[in-house]
Amino acid sequence: MYLSREDFQSIRDLINRETGLFFDEKKTYFVTNRLSKRMEEISCDNVKDYIHILNYDGEEFSTFVDSLTINETYFFRDYPQLRMFAEEILPLVCEEKRKKYNKTLRIWNAGCSTGEEPYTIAIILLEMIKDIYSWRVEILGTDINRKALKMCRKATYGERSLKDVPLEYREKYFIPCQEQDQDKYKIKNEIKKYVRFEYLNLNDGLRLQRIKNVDFIFCRNVLIYFDPKSCKEIVNSFYNSLNKGGYIFLGSSESMSRISAAFKLVRLNSGLVYIKE
Ligand SMILES: C[S@@+](CC[C@H](N)C(=O)[O-])C[C@H]1O[C@@H](n2cnc3c(N)ncnc32)[C@H](O)[C@@H]1O
Repeated sequence: MYLSREDFQSIRDLINRETGLFFDEKKTYFVTNRLSKRMEEISCDNVKDYIHILNYDGEEFSTFVDSLTINETYFFRDYPQLRMFAEEILPLVCEEKRKKYNKTLRIWNAGCSTGEEPYTIAIILLEMIKDIYSWRVEILGTDINRKALKMCRKATYGERSLKDVPLEYREKYFIPCQEQDQDKYKIKNEIKKYVRFEYLNLNDGLRLQRIKNVDFIFCRNVLIYFDPKSCKEIVNSFYNSLNKGGYIFLGSSESMSRISAAFKLVRLNSGLVYIKE
């Protein structure tokens, strides 16, 4: 399928306005590919007609966005950063909270994709907080991709997702599936019960404002897909959502330096982390 520069730009701008995601001209092939697949599925053979549909049909727009997001993820992604969270940060934060008789933990995983990341966080909490049963813990996983959110709730994963899960945890927190999901593993309920999922578009500032009193935000490997202005707005919202002394974790190839100066960069024994002072 041929996509003119003008049509590419009008699709790109619409997607950017609504979601904050930005596709530069180098992504023309990728966008064209997803576009032609979708147009075929709904038997639309004119690009201008499809652009019109995207502008006026929210349901179709969401389906198209689902096809454009990159949902790559797996359990225990970026192990060194998670180790820092588990062994250095979490004990410190829990100790502080215990002193204040405030045994609550709120964690927001923004851009949770198919759920491996929030479930990893839940496993870490269970492993690290011995008296977790006396804490009020909430892990909120949010994403724009509705198909991914369905998989979060199904909580059934294959080998690709599980490749970095230590054997001990695989045996402890996963159940091998039967019948049609053979070779897959289901997360046990003792982990699932800590995690809640919601649809949330990170470009929707008003919705973001409603998330408050968070101790940790994990937004890893998400902001790389956004334009700089959207990144700034999202990170400003993150700042407001976090408690004083709260932490934010970005992906290993992402940095706050060009986005915001509001967070303090702190060096711990095993790495760097951003804190809201
Ligand atoms: C590469 S995945 C990262 C998954 C996980 N955080 C990790 O590091 O393994 C990026 C996720 O960001 C989500 N995303 C992209 N644009 C978004 C938006 N505007 N609002 C919310 N989520 C978005 C995608 O749907 C996708 O699931």
